[in-house]
Amino acid sequence: MKGIDGQNVKMTLANSQKTSATNPVDNPTIRTLLERRSIRGFTEEPVDDQTVALLEQAAQHAATSRYFHEWSAIRVTDHDEALAIADMAHQRYVAEAPLLYIFLADQRRNADLVRRFADDLDPDTTLLNSGYVFLQSQNDAVLALHAMETAANALGLGGVILGSVINDTNRLIDLLKLPKLVYPVLGLAIGHPAQDPDPKPRMPRQAQIFTNTYQRADDDADMKDALADFDQTVTRYYRDIRHMDDPHRSFSAIMADKVRNPASGHEPMLDSIRRQGFDPAC
Ligand SMILES: Cc1cc2nc3c(=O)[nH]c(=O)nc-3n(C[C@H](O)[C@H](O)[C@H](O)COP(=O)(O)O)c2cc1C
Repeated sequence: MKGIDGQNVKMTLANSQKTSATNPVDNPTIRTLLERRSIRGFTEEPVDDQTVALLEQAAQHAATSRYFHEWSAIRVTDHDEALAIADMAHQRYVAEAPLLYIFLADQRRNADLVRRFADDLDPDTTLLNSGYVFLQSQNDAVLALHAMETAANALGLGGVILGSVINDTNRLIDLLKLPKLVYPVLGLAIGHPAQDPDPKPRMPRQAQIFTNTYQRADDDADMKDALADFDQTVTRYYRDIRHMDDPHRSFSAIMADKVRNPASGHEPMLDSIRRQGFDPAC
C-alpha cells in the first residue's frame, strides 16, 4: 500500500478515525465490508456464469419490505445498450464493465399477479402506486444491489454503484422499455479489478452514529474536533494518496463547492416518477 508521510495508509486512516477504529477482526465478512472500495477499472476477463448466478442469488436473498419482492434488475449484455447508458451517465467505464445491472423499483410484477388473481381489483391505482410503496421499492432495490456488491467483493471481484445512470430518467426508461410501476434506481458495474485504489476515509463514527437523539457538531465540541480532523484527513487523502483525482480539498470545502454550484446533471425526477404511474402524494 502507498504511504502518507511515510506511514501505512490503513494505519493513518484508522488513526484519523479514532472513534471509528475497529479492532482487527479475522472474520471474512467483516473484512469484506471494511475493505470495500469502488472499482472503476476492469480487466477484459468475463465473469463466469456460475459466479453471475451466485451474485444474483445473493441479491435475491436481501431483505424485502413486507415480503413484497418489490425490485427487479436488468442485466445489460447488449453493448450498444451499455454504450447508451454510459453516455447518459457521462462515464465511459460503465460500458467497459463485464457485468452491468440496472436495479429497479418494481411493482409491475405484483400488480400483474394481483390483476390475474382478482380481476375486480385495480392494483395500478391502489396501494402499489403509492408514495410509501415507491419508497419501499427503492429500499428493496438498494438492499439487493448492496448484497450483490458485497458478494462480488467477497469473491475477489470489484464494482461501482452508479447513480449517474439516472441522470436522464426518461431516456433510461425508454431505453429499457420499463412499463408503468417500474422505476430505475441505481446501476451496478462489476468485473475483475484492473486497479487497486486505497479505501477512502470515512467520517468519525461519533459524527455519524448517535445515541438516542440526534447530535449536531454545533453542540458538541468533541464532534466538532473530530470533523475538523476528518477535513484534514480528506485533504491528505486526495493530496497524497489519490493525487491524480480531483478534488484536493477538505470534506467541508467539497460540500460547500457542491452547494455553491448545485448543477448536478440530473433532470428533475418528479415527472418521470408520475409518468411511471406512481403517485408520490399518496
Ligand atoms: C447511491 C450511490 C451512487 C453512486 N453513483 C456513482 C456514480 O454514478 N459514479 C461513480 O463513479 N461512483 C458512484 N458512486 C460511488 C461513490 O462515489 C463512492 O462510493 C464514494 O466516493 C466512496 O468511495 P468508496 O466507494 O471507494 O468507498 C455512488 C455511490 C452511491 C452509494
